[in-house]
Amino acid sequence: VEPTQEWADEVRRLARARNATLLAHNYQLPAIQDVADHVGDSLALSRIAAEVDSDEIIFCGVHFMAETAKILSPEKRVLIPDERAGCSLADSITADELRAWKAEFPDALVVSYVNTTAEVKGLTDICCTSSNAVDVVASIDPDRDVLFLPDQFLGAHVKRETGRDNIHIWAGECHVHAGINGDELADQAASHPDADLFIHPECGCATSALYLAGEGAVPEDRVKILSTGGMLDAARETGAKQVLVATEIGMLHQLRKAAPGVDFQAVNDRASCPYMKMITPAALLRCLREGRDEVFVDIDVAEKARKSVERMIAIGN
Ligand code: 13P
Ligand code: SF4
Repeated sequence: VEPTQEWADEVRRLARARNATLLAHNYQLPAIQDVADHVGDSLALSRIAAEVDSDEIIFCGVHFMAETAKILSPEKRVLIPDERAGCSLADSITADELRAWKAEFPDALVVSYVNTTAEVKGLTDICCTSSNAVDVVASIDPDRDVLFLPDQFLGAHVKRETGRDNIHIWAGECHVHAGINGDELADQAASHPDADLFIHPECGCATSALYLAGEGAVPEDRVKILSTGGMLDAARETGAKQVLVATEIGMLHQLRKAAPGVDFQAVNDRASCPYMKMITPAALLRCLREGRDEVFVDIDVAEKARKSVERMIAIGN
């Protein structure tokens, strides 16, 4: 199925007929982003999912995101065009592993990135996304130990920004972002000396970027560690003509739309998330025609998980 105008018209027609809201993450294929009602980062999409009044949410993103929408809107039908769209980061900690970790630190507060399963969220005190992780951890009593999971690079960023030494970090990673490494970034920064660097905190290269700035290789004010939503805000404000972007390459589409006069280049143009890209034009059409794959979350698990997600949404509101 090619993403033609006829395809887009049919998607819109079917979505109206189902009274469905189409949500798409910033890493989706450009055609899927363009046909959606809302495009955003994981925090923005969670907020929208909690508020929309349609009967259905069709989540063009990965499974944990659709699960989060279901947790927040249990009365709605939530569909994902392909339920096999997982996440290597969410897979890096299981509920049993978290139970064992909590047993080692019984007084600690658990902060989990939303890139986790519903069961892990159910064992969590406060969720966070890359756009509010620092605020969430900063809101916690400084004397309380924090267990931060599952992303080690986002954890290192939060530790740096909050200056806390009582934060314990799980050693998980996203294989797409971890693969954007410091050497690549240093090479690119050297060959584009006037470019801004927009770096997602899940990247293996986030620490190297700050190191480059510390060494004076890149001016400090050109290095920005940002969530995908934060990158869009920064794109509208940057004075730079060129920006090197370290995150999943789907992001370039929204950046180019937000700031058409700026030249956005991927630090690693192979950084494509295979799970995000399982949401194809054909899969979306099938989802709208056949009403699948529906996302279900066990009621007790959802009840517990909702508390941790709602605490996150309340912070910064
Ligand atoms: P954000 O949209 O929160 O920046 O998340 C990035 C990501 O990797 C989602 O899978
Ligand atoms: Fe998961 Fe990484 Fe893909 Fe995001 S980019 S969905 S963190 S595997």
